[in-house]
Amino acid sequence: MAALGENLLEVVNKLQDLVFNTIGNDSLDLPQIVVVGSQSSGKSSVLENIVGRDFLPRGSGIVTRRPLILQLINVPSERNDKDEDHEVNVPHTPASVAAQDEFAEFNHIPGRRFYDFSEVRREIENETTRIAGNNKGINRQPINLKVYSPHVLSLTLVDLPGLTKVPIGDQPTDIEKQTRTLISEYIAKPNSIILAVSPANVDLVNSESLKLARWVDPTGKRTIGVLTKLDLMDHGTNALDILSGRVYPLKLGFVGVVNRSQQDIQTNKPLSEALAAERDFFRMHPAYRNIATRCGTQFLAKTLNQTLMSHIRERLPDIKARLNTLMGQTQQELASYGTDAFTGKEHRGSLVLQLMTRFATSFISSIDGTSSEIST
Ligand code: GDP
Ligand code: NA
Ligand code: MG
Repeated sequence: MAALGENLLEVVNKLQDLVFNTIGNDSLDLPQIVVVGSQSSGKSSVLENIVGRDFLPRGSGIVTRRPLILQLINVPSERNDKDEDHEVNVPHTPASVAAQDEFAEFNHIPGRRFYDFSEVRREIENETTRIAGNNKGINRQPINLKVYSPHVLSLTLVDLPGLTKVPIGDQPTDIEKQTRTLISEYIAKPNSIILAVSPANVDLVNSESLKLARWVDPTGKRTIGVLTKLDLMDHGTNALDILSGRVYPLKLGFVGVVNRSQQDIQTNKPLSEALAAERDFFRMHPAYRNIATRCGTQFLAKTLNQTLMSHIRERLPDIKARLNTLMGQTQQELASYGTDAFTGKEHRGSLVLQLMTRFATSFISSIDGTSSEIST
């Protein structure tokens, strides 16, 4: 992993955090990865495999009913004392994560750390029901979740309700239009990298995710194709042509994966076993063994990280411009508080603004400092 790249991602993740915690939205439009596909194509399974933890509600039928904005934050497993992060102490950033290793936090439950990922899943389910009801309705209000771990790559991922055609339960008659609009909003942003999931046991011509992705990304420069359910293809058929890029043109290509089946979910098959089985599947398969190193969840995670990185580099000038505007506004606001505002502990709002300005300044100088590498 390139050190520069990792630092850049870290900085961008922190910035995203800071902006979210201060002004409450992602007005910088920082890069993120958005997962799209029809219902039950395997979107949540793919995400879960990338994170390497069991924590997402998955299953047949409509399970994901609100957008989930998932920020993966790579933290060193041992506290690094050179690290000056506490200088900019964002409300939700843990002071030390050395001993705790791995945990999750929800934006709607500030300060509570989840160490048990099955509780994370339960909380997602409860929070989904709280807003979207318990009869299959969907809701556009996102759930924000952060996972801190030494075992993840720093990425921001968005899980979305699947594309669906026929309304069921509490779903309105225009459910298809609603999901399409919701998904389009996320993937239309030029800062989104689209993970277009298609099940391998359905003809790619009918892939809803690719149709939608092509609509917002006609040249296919920010779309990665993910082919799930390779294990469920008819005997004697394979997806080698698709995976080799001979069927559908995507600059970033297709990655094939094998997720856990419904039966695996029911029998609680451990993720580690599933990942090992996936590796074996590609290594042993007569059609895929020659491209096995470019298949599977691990390769997908690596591809995603690299793509995100080059995407961020490409968009740095724009991010920088937005940041400058934001800083100008922040400074004006700071000035309006007067200097007294920074002395008392009670003036938390202004302190946050001050920290934000300081952080933004160092962010911009870090961008300037790496500009030579960025332009290559
Ligand atoms: P989503 O609705 O797109 O988020 O899909 P889910 O991740 O919830 O998966 C839907 C169903 O398909 C679940 O029962 C999964 O176990 C199953 N599934 C997903 N991917 C695969 C795969 O690669 N192989 C097999 N056999 N089943 C899969
Ligand atoms: Na599902
Ligand atoms: Mg899902």
